[in-house]
Formats: sequence, structure tokens, C-alpha cells
Amino acid sequence: MEKVKMFLVFVLGTLLSGQVFAKDYLISTPNTSLLLTAEPGQKSMFRYYGSRIETADIQSIYASGCAFGSQSYPVFGISTSNERAMAVIHADGNASLDLVVEAVNQYTEADGDVTAIRMKDNIYPFVLTQFYKAYKGTDVISTWVEVENKGKKSVTLYRFASAYFPVNRGDNWLTHFHGAWGAEHMMVEEKLTNGQKIIADRSGLANSHSSNPSFMLTLDGKPQEEYGHVLGGTLAWSGNYLLKADVKNTWLAISAGINEDMAHYVLDGGKTFVLPEFAMTYSTTGKGGVSRAFHRWARMYKLQHGNVERDILLNSWEGVYFKVNQTGMDEMMQNFSALGGELFVMDDGWFGDKYPRDKGNSSLGDWVVCKKKLPEGIEGLLDSAKKHNVKFGLWIEPEMTNTQSELFEKHPDWVLQVEGRPRSTGRGGTQLVLDLTNPEVQDFVFSVVDGLMTKYPGIAYMKWDDNCSLMDYGSTYLPKNRQSHIYIEYHRGLKNVLERIRAKYPDLVLQACAAGGGRVNYGILPYFDEFWTSDDTDALQRVYMQWGVSNFYPSIAVGAHVSADKNHQTGRVTPLKFRFDVAMSGRLGMEMQPKDMNERDKEFARRAIAAYKHVRPVVQFGDLYRLVSPYDNQGIASLMYVTPEKDRAVFYVYKLENFINMTVPGVRLAGLDPNKHYRIKDLTPAKAQKPCSLDGKVFRGAVLMEEGLGMAGLLKGEYASQVLELQEVD
Ligand code: DGJ
Repeated sequence: MEKVKMFLVFVLGTLLSGQVFAKDYLISTPNTSLLLTAEPGQKSMFRYYGSRIETADIQSIYASGCAFGSQSYPVFGISTSNERAMAVIHADGNASLDLVVEAVNQYTEADGDVTAIRMKDNIYPFVLTQFYKAYKGTDVISTWVEVENKGKKSVTLYRFASAYFPVNRGDNWLTHFHGAWGAEHMMVEEKLTNGQKIIADRSGLANSHSSNPSFMLTLDGKPQEEYGHVLGGTLAWSGNYLLKADVKNTWLAISAGINEDMAHYVLDGGKTFVLPEFAMTYSTTGKGGVSRAFHRWARMYKLQHGNVERDILLNSWEGVYFKVNQTGMDEMMQNFSALGGELFVMDDGWFGDKYPRDKGNSSLGDWVVCKKKLPEGIEGLLDSAKKHNVKFGLWIEPEMTNTQSELFEKHPDWVLQVEGRPRSTGRGGTQLVLDLTNPEVQDFVFSVVDGLMTKYPGIAYMKWDDNCSLMDYGSTYLPKNRQSHIYIEYHRGLKNVLERIRAKYPDLVLQACAAGGGRVNYGILPYFDEFWTSDDTDALQRVYMQWGVSNFYPSIAVGAHVSADKNHQTGRVTPLKFRFDVAMSGRLGMEMQPKDMNERDKEFARRAIAAYKHVRPVVQFGDLYRLVSPYDNQGIASLMYVTPEKDRAVFYVYKLENFINMTVPGVRLAGLDPNKHYRIKDLTPAKAQKPCSLDGKVFRGAVLMEEGLGMAGLLKGEYASQVLELQEVD
């Protein structure tokens, strides 16, 4: 009797605490499902990830032979062959783990429903919880792992993936994004063959210059925009990462996590180690479906102010570089305001008292205004901004210092350095990286923003730059036997600072920049409003880069600026219309000297800015449909945004090459309502009175999507482009 009573109390307690012991766990979003099996005392198994299924379908998944027989988190030691998600060495030298399920908890958080599978080792006091979160209102499920060392002695983690899962083998293609400074986010697509394909970064601070921690994987052939079954995944980590596709004939598995190379982690007794989230989605509507799911998720949960329209800004960098002064800034604000601009951002060059920042080789860390250049201080600039009716923002690079700076003179121990070796220096031969593993340094970095905001609460925006990678692998703060934590603790320190900034300054708009597009990842973006896509503002190259970055990141976050007619990076000369038409597909801005524009260009810029304001909600919150890829060598690229109600859309087309009698393909539109009628408006005619031939015409959605629009007549000459609005008519 006592036993029965105890059992009932246990069941009731379990139900109330949300802890359940069922075998199958079906985690679903509106269009996707993930199925796990977790039974106490047994291994946790990953069974299915794909289109949404219902509980009644679970048996069919098993009966069909489609269910995977793979552990949801395979560990090293008992079974040693094949890839493992985790490998550790215990204090006694034993290198094995053997985890079985202890319990499963399911609970709801504000942003999603969580399933937590708690596993424990049979011998060692080692507990690992694997989490899955289905984000509300999205088709994104994320997974991550938390490790608890319940013992007294430390255990060293040599491998620690956030996610590990099998994928159906077939004609699998991988889409990923590679590049370098000035050429970030270039798309690469390749068929997966036997062997391991690794996408990794080792730069330490900014992880997306050379490759982005995101990928898509098709299950049924060459990647298509609106057809086919595609899995997309991204690792929410701002440091070194490692994504691996392991293919062995019929077997394909993905593992994703922090790059463990030179980063083994010593977990002391009683401590917990939380690994970053890996977020994934599954689409039956090609890559487009993956992108739209991630865009929505980002705007809802992983970006600051994801539901707020972004201002049109002018950044001073390419206009004046380091030659900042009060009159020049005032003039830029006035001229930009006259074009309809809303926010002025003063870039590098404004600070340094003892050492004025005239070049990229001094003053970082000395975040006081350079009185020689700006005798009226930030106050003077804020006054100018007010006078010209624009908001004001400025540039900082708070994680850095220079050998020539007051900060470094005071705190030489605050930089990452290897004892006994000469310091490595970055930009200008003088730049050093502050040691963010050190809480004192974290306080300093926080105080950079806090100090400026306290003194000048009128600052609306900050561009947070990082122009160095992690060079010297040594910290004077971390103990000698914990130096291998540098890569990880740096980013935890950064996160800690950003959390404090966000808590105190929730309204401040922050741009993530790292020598251009080095910090485009969902580890850092939750603290930022947007990112600087690339230091290369050449409109032609931007078509390719913005296409690449649009695969995982929403337009509202994509800093896209119109720069000088002769581009400063490539030397290419393009018409102002082309430059605007390209920048208008992201978060529009300008990065040039407005006073150098002639009257005709100013008139065009005024119209283009007004047109962008008119369609801004469609561009920044609409669903993206990529129509013709610049990577497909058709000579054009085209994309469009459509409102969820399908009552408005904005269509873009760009000519990428120009030959006599070249074939210019027509473009089929997508995402519209086939039964609605849409009126076309040319948003950026080169001459105000001469819109393109489609202007004013009305088409049924079905016709636009089935037949499309002919482009040959619209795209005449070099760097031709069109931006068209589609508005539903009754
Ligand atoms: C690198 C950034 O990407 C540029 O936009 C500019 O802010 C410079 N740094 C300033 O030094």
C-alpha cells in the first residue's frame, strides 16, 4: 500500500513539475517536426526531422523504415568509432563517457517550448542535458547542450558539439558562404561526396569573414530557390566554430559547435558549461523557405528591435575617412538631411586627446573627443544634428587599443599577450586586442558605451567595430592551466558586456561591424540591430554579397550603403541609380560626401530616399523571394519582398553584364496571390518624368508568377536596374 502511495505521489509530482517519462518526444513547429526517443536508463535517440507530422503518424515513421537509429548525442569512450559529439578526459585519466537518459522535462518559455533530456554517466558524476527549443510562431527549432560536473575533481572537455544529428542520404548538396575582407558572404554550392566537409573559422574574434557559421543541405538534388527539401542550420556563436558534414556512403551526419582546436575546456567540480545554440529549420519550398524561416525567427527573437523600421543613415567613413571636424560633420548632416536622410553616423577619427586619431595606428581606448578636430565636442555635433533634424550616432572599437594610446600606457597588462614574446600587432602595426576574459577589462569596455551615453544621452546609434583577429594566445588574467579557455572566455566576456549594455540602453541602436562583414552570426546579433555587410560598397559586387547574406539574415539587418560613383574599393564606376537600386534591397544608407554630388544626382537621391521610405515596411519586414541568382550566370539578378498579406511587393532586377544582343531572360515573380491584381510603379526612374514602360500597368498575380515580366526592354545598357513596387488594386 505504501508503495502504491509513493508511486502516486511520484506520478503527481512528476506531472506537476512537467517531467514526463514517455518514450517518444515529438517537437513540432507549424510546418516541421523533430522526433526523439528518450527512456530512462536508455540512450536518447534521434528519429526524425522533417515536415510536420502528428502523434498519430509516429508509428508510420517507424514502420516506413525512415526512422534513424542514431543517438541524439553520441559520446566517446565506450563506442569509439565514428564521429562523436563529445569527448572528455576525467581527472583519473579515464577518457570514456557512457550516458543514459535520466529524465525528460518539457516546459514553456516566453519564446518557445523546450524539451530537455537529462542524461548521466553510469560511473562518473557527469550530467549532460540536451535541449531542444521550438520557437513560437516560427519554423525554427534550436538545440544545445549543458554539461554539469557534479564531482569534485575537474574534467577536461576536448570535444563539445552543440548539435549532432543524422540526415537522410540522397543527392545531397551543401550551400555555404565564404569570402574574405571585401568579398564576404559569397555563396558556394557543391554536391556532398564521401568524406568530411568542414566549414570552420579560427580567427578568434570575428568569425564570418572567411566563412559564415551557417549552411543549407538539400535532400533531393541541386539546390533550388522555391523547390526541394532543404535543411538549414546556423550556429549562434561569435567565436571559432566547426561545422562538419560526415558522409560515408549511405550515412550522413552533421555536427556543429565551438571549434575545439586549442580550446579544450577544463570544467571544475561543481561547474556547468553551456554550449551555444544551433538553430535549424526544414523547408519543402527550397532555400527560399529556409531563408524566410530564419528571417522571421531573427526579427522575432534574435535581433534588437526586429519589428522597428530602420532609419536611413549617412556614414562619414568613405566621405571623409579620418578627416573629421565640426564644420565638415555639420555640412554633411545638412546636406544629407536635405536629401531626406534621418540619421548621421560619424565614423572613425573623432577621438584621442593626447594622441589624436589621425590614422588607424593610434588612440583606440582613449574614448574622449579630439578637441583639436572637434572643439565643440560631441555636444556641438548633437546640436548640429538637432539643427538639421537628423539623429546622431558614432563609431567605436571598444575591444581594442593601440601601442600609442593612454589606455595602453596605463594598462599594458590588459591586452592579450604571450609572456616572454614580443607582442603581435594588427592594423597600422600598432593595434592590440584587449583581454576580455578579464572582468576588469569587461568593466572598461562596458564603460566606453556607458560613459558616452551618460554624458551624451542624445546619441541614438553606435557602430561597434573590430578590426583585428585574436593574435597573441595568452592572457595575464587566466591562470596558467586555463589558457586554453581564451577563445571561449573572450566571447563570454564580450557577451557579458553586451548584456549589460542592452540592460541599461535598450533603445540604443547598435551596428555590428568587424572590418566589414566579420561579425555576421547569431551569437552576436541578439545584441545588435544590424551589421555592416562589407567594407566593399561596390554595387556590382554587393549584388553577390547581399544575395549570399540574405540566405540566413533578414534585410532589416543588412547595412547597404550608396557610395561614390567611382568606387573606393574596386574603382568601378556605376550610375547612381544602380547604386541606389542595389542598396535599397537592404537597410538603405549612404557612405559618401553629399556635397560632391551634382544637382542631378541630388535630385535622384531625394526621390530614391523618398521611395525607400514609402516601401520600407515591405523591404524590411516582407518575405524574401530570390528570383534569379547572380551565381547562375544569366547576366542578371532579381529578387523581391512581399508583405505577409500579399497586398504589396517590391521587385528588384539588376543587369550584371552587358553585351550586344545578349539574352536577357524574363523573370517570373513569386510569393504573390495568384488571384490578386497588382499595379506596377517604377520607384526609381532615372528621370522623374520618364518611368519605365511597365509603370502603371496592372497584372494578375498568376500571370506575373507563371509568365513573368520581360526584361530585355527594361534593362538596356551597362548597369541597368529597376526597382518596381507592386500594389494590390481592387
Ligand atoms: C572598418 C569598418 O568596416 C569601416 O566601415 C570603418 O568603420 C573603418 N573600420 C574605420 O576605421
